[in-house]
Amino acid sequence: MSRLDGLSPELDAYVLDVGCRDDDVARRLRAETDQLPQAGMRIDPLEASLLGVLIRAIGARRVVEVGTFTGYSALSMARALPADGRLVACDVSEAYTSIARRYWAEAGVADRIDLRLGPALDTLDALLADGAEGTFDAAFIDADKESYEGYYERCLRLLRPGGLIMVDNVLWSGKVVDPTDERPSTLAIRAFNEARARDPRIDLVMLPVRDGVSLLVKR
Ligand SMILES: C[S@@+](CC[C@H](N)C(=O)[O-])C[C@H]1O[C@@H](n2cnc3c(N)ncnc32)[C@H](O)[C@@H]1O
Repeated sequence: MSRLDGLSPELDAYVLDVGCRDDDVARRLRAETDQLPQAGMRIDPLEASLLGVLIRAIGARRVVEVGTFTGYSALSMARALPADGRLVACDVSEAYTSIARRYWAEAGVADRIDLRLGPALDTLDALLADGAEGTFDAAFIDADKESYEGYYERCLRLLRPGGLIMVDNVLWSGKVVDPTDERPSTLAIRAFNEARARDPRIDLVMLPVRDGVSLLVKR
């Protein structure tokens, strides 16, 4: 949860107060997550609301999430689905997602979430092998950055035309424009962004919200 969007503390507080929705379950999930050393991995309430609104706006019924952690982004998207909607949530961590499961149950959305533990590339390949190509309405990519390209290619195949891929951390704390930063994660995000800018299979916009969120619509 890196905040790059340059809002003053006062404006940031204002946006969080009147620009997005929050409730007790989401607040408690954030509070429990914030006890973990890796708490910075979760998105914040503004981005969570953005995901939820987009899912609702496109009338999504089937969504895949790559990188679930303690379930905060999944909670927001699952709540935006119809009662018979499904979110396939991919993560490798039993420990993180056991926290997620408790809050999904409390929020009454556990039956909309199909948690798949294992490397997400394998999970996405399994969905494709099961005939799910073209059946998803949306995807959210927020796991290990080195695999973004692989996640994207698989999610693109899973989506119907007009489907939406939301990609987190595309500004990578500003490191995308720091030529001295050659970490594998930074190189991967830079290459991913540059490839999408020229990718004829999608329309796109990169939103400089928080750590950067790209919205990619399958043509
Ligand atoms: C940035 S966190 C996700 C945050 C989450 N979307 C949220 O807003 O709370 C990234 C997650 O990706 C998971 N992850 C890392 N490598 C993975 C892989 N190869 N396959 C699936 N999940 C992976 C990690 O366990 C971690 O929970």
